[in-house]
Amino acid sequence: MRIRVFDTPDAAAAYAVALVEQTAAVYAEPVLGLATGGTMIPFYKALVQAVRQGLDLSRAWAINLDEYVGLGAEHPQSCAGFMREHLYRHVPWDGARAHIPDGCAPDLAAECRRYDRLLATHPVHLQFLGIGLNGHIGFNEPGDELVAETHLVELSETTIRSNARFFRDPGEVPRRAITMGVGGILRAERVVLLAFGEQKAEVVARALTGPITTRLPASLLQLHRDVTVLLDTAAAQKIRGKTVENG
Ligand code: PGA
Repeated sequence: MRIRVFDTPDAAAAYAVALVEQTAAVYAEPVLGLATGGTMIPFYKALVQAVRQGLDLSRAWAINLDEYVGLGAEHPQSCAGFMREHLYRHVPWDGARAHIPDGCAPDLAAECRRYDRLLATHPVHLQFLGIGLNGHIGFNEPGDELVAETHLVELSETTIRSNARFFRDPGEVPRRAITMGVGGILRAERVVLLAFGEQKAEVVARALTGPITTRLPASLLQLHRDVTVLLDTAAAQKIRGKTVENG
């Protein structure tokens, strides 16, 4: 695991884009595992800029981690809505190569299986992740058990409270989601975890240096052989006993 600490989220986002460029240079059809959430906004801003300056992602696949149950793609607070707002509105993307679980599928279990078939045929080269205040990755919430494959989850109260900031009415936050499982995440060839701000410092330190436990899903990333963690100084301030690189 490599931990890199930057002065600002924008500097970390620029580095994240450089990793996309590296991946795009290696694979004719790079498969990007994409995430939503406030942390990812500077990354998409920098990615859009890079595409405008010539980065060619026309043959890239984009496979998102998760989606709320019951929010259609047209809903602005859906993960699909987030991706449209921050990426697809700016960078034309072949719809056949842009995937997000369908939270309105009539058969949600079948939708999860469909997603795993997609992941099996398109193994992710570069998986981007945020981290929840409770240590979730994707919507894999802390618990006694974790699920390897794509599945339906009940969102935790922490997640519902934290995501309420994106909704006009906090009562509108869905209580369930479809998420790639931890197996799907750990099968990615390379994982990039981003976290910014003081409020993430505690969970970041525990995830990177504490015991590996289903009670903190991001701690499982310690088992992956190629993880790069991109932090700002505020999110990195509680890490002890690990080498961190600057910028
Ligand atoms: P955030 O969410 O980027 O909005 O903090 C991260 C996450 O919950 O994975």
